[in-house]
Amino acid sequence: FDAVDVIRTKRDAETLTAEQIAWVVDAYTRGAVAEEQMSALAMAIYLRGMDRSEIARWTAAMIGSGERMDFSSLSRPTADKHSTGGVGDKITLPLAPLVAAFGVAVPQLSGRGLGHTGGTLDKLEAIPGWRATLSGSQILGQLEEVGAVICAAGAGLAPADKKLYALRDITGTVESVPLIASSIMSKKIAEGTGALVLDVKVGSGAFMKDLASARELARTMVDLGTDAGVRTTALLTDMSTPLGRTIGNALEVRESVEVLAGGGPQDVVELTLALAREMLAAAGKDDVDPADALTDGRAMDVWRRMIAAQGGDPHAQLPVAEHTETVVAEDDGVVAALDAYAVGVASWRLGAGRARKEDPVQAVAGVEIHARAGERVRAGEPVLTLHTATPERFARAREVLAGAVAVAPEPERSVSRSGGAVV
Ligand code: URA
Repeated sequence: FDAVDVIRTKRDAETLTAEQIAWVVDAYTRGAVAEEQMSALAMAIYLRGMDRSEIARWTAAMIGSGERMDFSSLSRPTADKHSTGGVGDKITLPLAPLVAAFGVAVPQLSGRGLGHTGGTLDKLEAIPGWRATLSGSQILGQLEEVGAVICAAGAGLAPADKKLYALRDITGTVESVPLIASSIMSKKIAEGTGALVLDVKVGSGAFMKDLASARELARTMVDLGTDAGVRTTALLTDMSTPLGRTIGNALEVRESVEVLAGGGPQDVVELTLALAREMLAAAGKDDVDPADALTDGRAMDVWRRMIAAQGGDPHAQLPVAEHTETVVAEDDGVVAALDAYAVGVASWRLGAGRARKEDPVQAVAGVEIHARAGERVRAGEPVLTLHTATPERFARAREVLAGAVAVAPEPERSVSRSGGAVV
């Protein structure tokens, strides 16, 4: 095979053969296909698309590039959740211990933030002492004893995706249904979960900005999971405005702990419960109500044991930013819109995210929301508080927020986020 022939095939909108796909993914992982060749192929896939059988073969080749985990020795059923990424999306933090409280093992192999979306591991690292890296046997032991693990995916899981995702990130080829679906599902199938619930985000803060493409992504991923023997369902949920009232690492841990204590913002609680019900049903437990475990302390108990098992102190004070500034309402009225993408970029610029893979993140940086879409404000009252350890970052964060907060004189109907459609 020749990489140029494979690129030409897709460039000319033809279907890649099974042999071409197996060869090019393997050769790229080994370094025999150059980054510039894969980058041309990724752009051809972005522009021309792939049919379902090509996507399935591409996914299988990415799974085959590395090792697979095996949870079949566990005494509990397994269920996992994956979000396609958003702003203020801290749901994994309360969700994993909540579902584990019902005897389901939740192996949540997570990532770090890149660009305007936050990463679960960056958030948990705000907890003093907490470690993201566990060995395969530590993961199995913690799943058996505690029930929930949130940790870094090992380097051996779908290494083709690790290389390809980094390349897509710098070549404008992220927002493609075949490439996103195969990237996510190769990791989830290689992880070996029995059940998977996908939270497919749609709106300005998501990769998929419109409902039709989010629905197509959801269907493609559900088919890939189902064909691989994973009980897979998907919810489509709104990401036009941030989830909850906090964006940023330590700030989001604080809000997650509020949810585990039976409080927290209603949208975060509703989405956590909706995803928990899907995961529990997929794991064969559809006769329980997860809401009870948020109010009676069972989910909090699993959270504390999960954090402690990974070296963290669940009772430690979370770090707080030394520098804060507020963004105030210019007029009296109702917040008509609070744009997820702008708030995500502001939080990133304040230091919560990274521009390059190797950059450090600030635990303390982020944005706190005082007035959400649909809420009333008076001129001069704070809408947002910006947090950072490095006050020279305020100016660039304010720049992106200009125009992101719309206050309307008349009450406007706010968009409800509850009840995503089940695909
Ligand atoms: N998350 C992933 O893991 N891969 C993508 O391509 C997009 C989001």
